[in-house]
Amino acid sequence: MNLTFRQLKVFDVVARHLNYTKAAKELHLSQPAVSMQVKQLEEQVDTPLIEKLGKKLYLTDVGMEMHNYARSTMQQLIDLEETIGQMKTLQQGHLKLAVASTANHFVIRLLARFANAHPKIRISLEVTNRSSLLDLLDKNECDLVIMGSPPDGHNLMSLPFLENPLVVVACPEHRLIAKKKVTLKELIKEEFIIREEGSGTRSAIERFFAGQELAFKTKLDMSNNRAIKHATEEGLGVTIVSMHTLELELKAKTLKIVNVEGFPIYRHWYVVQREGKRLSPIATVFKDYIMEGADDVIEEFTRPLYQHLEQSSR
Ligand code: PGA
Repeated sequence: MNLTFRQLKVFDVVARHLNYTKAAKELHLSQPAVSMQVKQLEEQVDTPLIEKLGKKLYLTDVGMEMHNYARSTMQQLIDLEETIGQMKTLQQGHLKLAVASTANHFVIRLLARFANAHPKIRISLEVTNRSSLLDLLDKNECDLVIMGSPPDGHNLMSLPFLENPLVVVACPEHRLIAKKKVTLKELIKEEFIIREEGSGTRSAIERFFAGQELAFKTKLDMSNNRAIKHATEEGLGVTIVSMHTLELELKAKTLKIVNVEGFPIYRHWYVVQREGKRLSPIATVFKDYIMEGADDVIEEFTRPLYQHLEQSSR
């Protein structure tokens, strides 16, 4: 079967009026053009759709089925048009985001403002580590990812939007806290609590120490920043985490930044997408918001953190 939308549309009008003259008038076509369309449709399905008994037209049984399908096909196209219009004007849509566990702390704040500004939008947020994020991008399972610098060779497009300092932290009673400045040689005598394999934070720490030709001792590795901070608060060791995970602990003074030479390790947060990915209207607006429209939210979040960092180096 090779039906055209135009044939279905003409058939719908004819079936409603059961009168070629009236149908032609509604369609702004000549009467022979209308009957030609119906004839072609009948040829396509190889069976009559309309019959003439006396002076009156009737739909055959197949004609009635055809009319039902024609109407629902046209309704679907009308719905599709409306949906596309709503997506373009951001009255609906589905934003699929994935963020590094470490970035979740500030991304939630950014999202809160965004969701309020676009109340009809649905948002899915996947929070996971760096290697799983790369997997999601590879499988094209999300629109945008927020993560530390993505590696080469994955056909990705990335834009940096925020500095991400990694700092050494310990509980307030820890001996290193009392020191004005700690050397790296002193630091590596400590036992470290660090993130799991596959974490961006962990690989940045490993790269940093490898660059200094120093090895560090891992006491515990954990897949969750909250558990790491808790273990550090309990005095199980020192840790290196993004300053962006420390908002509550620095404020409550349950953890403190250790002033270590060569620290912070400065990384950046990036908005990342697959090369060639056609972003939906809502994903495009979200990306612009992250890159340009959220400075005040970011500033409000990072200002107190930088104050703590500054105090730790005095
Ligand atoms: P992580 O993310 O939560 O995997 O450590 C940080 C990053 O991508 O740099």
